[in-house]
Amino acid sequence: MSKLWGGRFTKQTNKLVEEYTASIGFDKALAEEDIQGSLAHVTMLGRCGIVPQEDVDTIKEGLHKVLARIREGSIEFSVSDEDIHMNIEKHLIEEVGAVGGKLHTGRSRNDQVATDMHLYLRNRVVSLTGMLHALQEALVIQARDNLDTIVPGYTHLQRAQPILFAHHLMAYVSMFQRDAERLMDSYKRINILPLGAGALAGTTFPIDRHFVAEQLGFDGVYENSLDAVSDRDFIVEFLAGASLIMTHLSRLSEELVLWSSNEFNFIELDDAFCTGSSIMPQKKNPDVPELVRGKTGRVYGNLIGLLTVLKSLPLAYNKDMQEDKEGMFDTVATLEGALQLFAPMIATMKVKKDVMRQAVNQDFSNATDIADFLVNKGLPFRQAHEVIGKTVLYCIQNGKYLLDLSLEEFQQFSELFDERIYDVLQPEAVVNARNVYGGTATAQVQAAIERSEARLQATSQWVDEHVQV
Ligand code: ARG
Repeated sequence: MSKLWGGRFTKQTNKLVEEYTASIGFDKALAEEDIQGSLAHVTMLGRCGIVPQEDVDTIKEGLHKVLARIREGSIEFSVSDEDIHMNIEKHLIEEVGAVGGKLHTGRSRNDQVATDMHLYLRNRVVSLTGMLHALQEALVIQARDNLDTIVPGYTHLQRAQPILFAHHLMAYVSMFQRDAERLMDSYKRINILPLGAGALAGTTFPIDRHFVAEQLGFDGVYENSLDAVSDRDFIVEFLAGASLIMTHLSRLSEELVLWSSNEFNFIELDDAFCTGSSIMPQKKNPDVPELVRGKTGRVYGNLIGLLTVLKSLPLAYNKDMQEDKEGMFDTVATLEGALQLFAPMIATMKVKKDVMRQAVNQDFSNATDIADFLVNKGLPFRQAHEVIGKTVLYCIQNGKYLLDLSLEEFQQFSELFDERIYDVLQPEAVVNARNVYGGTATAQVQAAIERSEARLQATSQWVDEHVQV
């Protein structure tokens, strides 16, 4: 059979042009969505009296057969049929004869491909939200197990103030919560139907777009036919959301890599999640977080790539827009790969509580607290800061930590010191003194965990309600 659009042409397409312009190599991933959309479209054509019901039935039966053959892998897609839409139509016509050609009544590939992308992305957004949820749960469980684990908190990668390790983990839970909320919010803009826009201007047939939307589980239809076929904002939004997820995963990856080094020695990743070296027998490498950190670049690239494709594109459809797919597929696969490993990797991570605690005993991360002690005695904070600065310098010069100083030594720097300073300086006291909403005190972190669990419950309910409409 010749090309579906061959009528106007007098020559065969150049082979290289055919290969260059074809998208079947990657848009075959949309086969299920394409058929799902066609089934709803043809059902509507029958209902609106545009195609006789018996033809509709034949076409639907044919589409189901094509779908079954695609699933069993017995269909060969061809580059000369360009893309998934024309490949499927070709196979449908082979299956049911010329009547199959009625399927494309009142639609264009422009509104068809947009519909496929909406269907594809909406399901992926739901499953990715579920995967983020699983990672958050793993982090919350580790946080619960580490409500008594004190670790240095850092700024500038220098020890700053002691915190609960649970508090540190819960920071990531908050980040992934925003990510999940972004995905759930983006769903509203994904779940709108472009079909019925035709090539750009609508169609002369008395179609019912709302009926198609309802059948496909869309919450509404695009307002404007030009916008419907030109809009790829929903993919940009997804790629932007994905970029932030990768940013967060990459920051966590960096910490896992640092923490599992001999220099920190704070955690150990499970053997099942690490790899070895071909030359150095002692090595156990954190390849998974390293690769996630590395793959973050690809995801950013896909975002910038699509933004650049869209920039300055005149309305409505332009072939440039075929470039919207590979980056999206790649981003979905990259995110799925990372998230599906991260949840069990976090769940099985061994936390070396004693090493963390030991680290806190050997630093000056309690210095702010003695400054606050002096402030509570009436000294202005700026002066207290100066006094403690000098005290720390004295410690460094004498090879001591603050808790090693005698009261006489403390009192050289300020008369206001008394023996209560030794309680104030204990890491537990330092942590629990930060008893402000969102702070690291045990009670606050416990409350944060509880609030998180309620949010996780809500996310999981959303996923259940939106999975595979
Ligand atoms: N393969 C095309 C794409 O992905 C489908 C739409 C083609 N439309 C057109 N007018 N050539 O964008």
